[in-house]
Amino acid sequence: MHNNPLPRLDEDSEVYQRLLKHCRLKAGDIWIDPISGHRVGCIDATDSQAITSLMGGQLATLAIHDPPYNLVAFETRSVEEYVAWCKKWVSTSLRHMTEDCSLYVWLGADQKNHYQPLPDFMVMMRDFQIQTRSFITVRNQRGYGTQKNWMAVRQELLYYVRGKPVFNVEAEYTDIPKALKGYYKEVGGEITENLQRSKSDTIRAGNVWLDIQQVFYRLQENVSGCYAQKPLKSIRRIIDASSRKSDVVVDFFAHSGTTLLAAEMAGRRCFTADIDPVFCEMAIRRLEHFRASGHTGWQNGHAFEQDIAMSSSTEKQAEPTVPIQATLI
Ligand SMILES: C[S@@+](CC[C@H](N)C(=O)[O-])C[C@H]1O[C@@H](n2cnc3c(N)ncnc32)[C@H](O)[C@@H]1O
Repeated sequence: MHNNPLPRLDEDSEVYQRLLKHCRLKAGDIWIDPISGHRVGCIDATDSQAITSLMGGQLATLAIHDPPYNLVAFETRSVEEYVAWCKKWVSTSLRHMTEDCSLYVWLGADQKNHYQPLPDFMVMMRDFQIQTRSFITVRNQRGYGTQKNWMAVRQELLYYVRGKPVFNVEAEYTDIPKALKGYYKEVGGEITENLQRSKSDTIRAGNVWLDIQQVFYRLQENVSGCYAQKPLKSIRRIIDASSRKSDVVVDFFAHSGTTLLAAEMAGRRCFTADIDPVFCEMAIRRLEHFRASGHTGWQNGHAFEQDIAMSSSTEKQAEPTVPIQATLI
């Protein structure tokens, strides 16, 4: 069987350097998609001028940001510095959004460090004229810290709004059948249980999402080389709930291009950025690959297959043994 994944690019500088030569964008460049009008910029999210160029005067109704977060970052950057850095790109994002808009931010909470940066980030967000709407938790299949602690299986997603943006409640229904009876209530003199009363056969996601499959190497949507890919289903749910057809969706941390691809599938335009040319290229190629093949990623291959051949030793090393998503970044 064909099996040719890339190693995690944050852990293999040699392969990273080889890929760099095949990237169409360099710092400051913006790719404009000739088919659906998406944009990908090789841009630092805190560079407000460059983001202004990316937006080209258009306003987004929805932002989905997934900033880098890792324990390694705290070796060089304090929580205060990290949160000050976040404030810059949140501020820039809001400047390029409509009066009625939704802002979603994925963030980590370090169990060994007072759940940072989540609490300080939440406090910082009070400085903006926005409202909190929901604190969503996505349950991962694989966790960490199983021996001496509760296994950590959660990913946090913060949902803020400004004004009165759209919320399509249908997007909240999952394909999980409504199975549990209970919650008795008297209707017309008769005791009924929830299954009799319900309008839908399936349950709503609510703000604890149990039906999202974590990305790992066996899934078609896997983009090898990436180490922080969000599941398409989770991003699609946000887009379907919080935007309308043809709206602009922004994501300043593209990485594998999940928001770009989900926006393409949902008929929205995505303006996205990544500071790293390799991930910009990865995102663009993922979109192109989807258009050419209908595939959402490369289950056993990778985005640069036509450009670089992996040596057999690299191939061996590249084969992941744990889900890529299991690492907090
Ligand atoms: C957590 S990943 C995003 C994952 C993405 N949601 C996905 O599903 O693939 C964070 C990305 O942010 C990028 N990044 C880091 N610092 C950045 C900055 N200052 N501006 C823009 N992108 C940055 C990294 O290169 C990385 O690709």
